Amino acid sequence: MARVAVVTGGTRGIGQAISVALKERGYAVAANYGGDDAKAKSFADATGISAYKWDVSDPDACEAGLAKIEADLGPVDVLINNAGITRDTIMLKMSYDQWKKVIDTNLGGCFNMARVTFPGMRERQWGRVVNIGSVNGQAGQYGQVNYAAAKSGIHGFTKALAQEGAKFGITVNAIAPGYIDTDMVAAVPDDVLGKIVARIPVGRLGQAHEIARGVTFLVSENAGFITGSTLSINGGQHMY
Ligand code: CAA
Repeated sequence: MARVAVVTGGTRGIGQAISVALKERGYAVAANYGGDDAKAKSFADATGISAYKWDVSDPDACEAGLAKIEADLGPVDVLINNAGITRDTIMLKMSYDQWKKVIDTNLGGCFNMARVTFPGMRERQWGRVVNIGSVNGQAGQYGQVNYAAAKSGIHGFTKALAQEGAKFGITVNAIAPGYIDTDMVAAVPDDVLGKIVARIPVGRLGQAHEIARGVTFLVSENAGFITGSTLSINGGQHMY
């Protein structure tokens, strides 16, 4: 039987590439999404992967979303915490709502989804969790105190949860993408993005499939001795 994988934010950008890569490797994939129904429908039509709508910052919605997926596909063994948003602005202009929304979605979503999937993985003595962090959680980024704090939190969350999962056969790892060619990065003003790309040693943005490859490696059967690690995929922008 195919293992079941849930990818949050799995219908667009990096998440879309992860969903497709996992499906190609034989997983039964459920792609969660938060808002864009039209995009989710075209994704589902094009890939044959079912899309499930809920807000990962809402603990009850995560519980209900997981229950629906398990009823449709079976027990979830693989969780990819990818859903993330930005509300970039300098700290002096940042509203409490911009702070909270990013923390609750990007970091809270990881907790909410791990909390509902971990018991089943523990029972079955096998699980894989991959959390998508960011180079900006490692190095910081002007205009992103909310996002950098959340992504940095993901890296700590990963190391702590890895220690709790190890004795149950559950590995927990993070990937820290650099600047990847997605809608999120396209929203950065051109002049600012140009300066950022100029500082990437390989001289280009990354591609979503380059992150997805890292995920398929970390969730594979033979990656069982890798846990609590962070895989940086950033073109050399930050060597950690
Ligand atoms: N370092 C130092 N100073 C900087 C700076 C930087 N990197 N960027 C801006 N500033 C300064 C400006 O020079 C300006 O200074 P003065 O007022 O003295 O002239 C001041 O900050 C304000 O700058 P702006 O007028 O540009 O302010 P703004 O409010 O219009 O925009 C910003 C600020 C939102 C931070 C904008 O610069 C921006 O979008 N930066 C990019 C943020 C970014 O990289 N986001 C990543 C999104 S993608 C992602 O997050 C994915 C991932 O994981 C990598």
